[in-house]
Amino acid sequence: MKIGVLGAGGMGASVIQHLQKCAGVTEIVAYDVNAAQVADKVARFGVTGATKLEAVLGDPTVRLVFVTAANDAHKPLTLAALAAGKAVMCEKPMAVTLEDSREMVEAAERQGAFLQIGFELRYSRLYTTVKEWIDAGLLGEVINTHCYYICSEFHHKGSWRNLKATGGSMFGEKLSHYVDLPRWWVGADVADVISVCSPNVIPYYEVRDNYHTTYRFTNGAVSQLTFMMAPGATFRGDPLQDVVSQQQGDGHALRFLVVGTRGAAETDVFARTIKRWAFGDSPACFTSDWVDTRTWDPAEDHRYFHNTLDQTHDIVRRVRDGLHPMTSARDAYETMKLCFAAELSADTGERVALSELERE
Ligand SMILES: NC(=O)c1ccc[n+]([C@@H]2O[C@H](COP(=O)([O-])OP(=O)(O)OC[C@H]3O[C@@H](n4cnc5c(N)ncnc54)[C@H](O)[C@@H]3O)[C@@H](O)[C@H]2O)c1
Repeated sequence: MKIGVLGAGGMGASVIQHLQKCAGVTEIVAYDVNAAQVADKVARFGVTGATKLEAVLGDPTVRLVFVTAANDAHKPLTLAALAAGKAVMCEKPMAVTLEDSREMVEAAERQGAFLQIGFELRYSRLYTTVKEWIDAGLLGEVINTHCYYICSEFHHKGSWRNLKATGGSMFGEKLSHYVDLPRWWVGADVADVISVCSPNVIPYYEVRDNYHTTYRFTNGAVSQLTFMMAPGATFRGDPLQDVVSQQQGDGHALRFLVVGTRGAAETDVFARTIKRWAFGDSPACFTSDWVDTRTWDPAEDHRYFHNTLDQTHDIVRRVRDGLHPMTSARDAYETMKLCFAAELSADTGERVALSELERE
């Protein structure tokens, strides 16, 4: 299968390398508005280059495209690719506005086309293990989740990510992954959201750099996300050593606590652990027993917490076999709604019901 990669920056390079390991991929064509990016990928990976979109979308032998360009380009590239009859995998966030995201879902649904959004944490073993425990009934009904995420400023000055017009918001660009997972685990939609944020620490960001966000699901479950981009130590490490080990104990944190009616789970990227507790009853008290701890080798980091490799291969297989996306674009849109509601709440200081957002 011949595949287009629309956006030949960092993520485009990752997808190209994943595709090069994928059985059945015969040719990859990399397109970007920046000719230097195209030339770089042609030189580094031996792919075909294109600086005209028509060279990819007008080619009937291209069945599938990956949209890996900057966020403001997601909607125009996705709509053009769908109109040209291509299957599309578009990176998160879907788009920089909710209206644009909705247009993308509606276009795919109208055409009965394949559109999957890049929430690869749903392929990542750290988080699929929690889902397996939930599906096996080991946690009972999930009623409360907490994500504690502290990182360093790794977008850097001058990045399109820091501008509202091109990046959208921190919620879409970064935190959408970490609210998509609780939606998946709880298995219900979000009813309402409240975000409170302090003034930014990072002076050159147009987007926010810190949040305390609480959301309530339609089934009564609640989730909390605490995010700060600044306190983790700036990465100036040895490129030959793995990044996770070098950031252990230096202020970085990425933990989930997932609490159900029958047990709880904790995922911790920087400790490389997944733990489980089972709840019970004794004559004296409600009990909680720590029953499972798993870890993994640093060589498996990618598969454990950012598994774009298996996501890419799964999408190629699904398109080849005429299957639906692993997660529908409509489902991804529900996560995007939550992101836009969280930003709106931070703007207004008010609780935002997702039903009100939809009516705007
Ligand atoms: N799922 C993940 O874990 C993950 C990780 C990294 C990036 N991403 C996503 O991938 C996308 C790209 O991020 P990146 O890190 O590669 O950024 P990047 O800055 O390295 O590359 C972005 C590329 O998009 C190109 N571009 C901009 N407008 C374009 C247009 N209209 N048409 C074609 N190309 C255009 C730029 O020239 C640049 O080469 C973003 O949406 C980002 O959110 C996702």
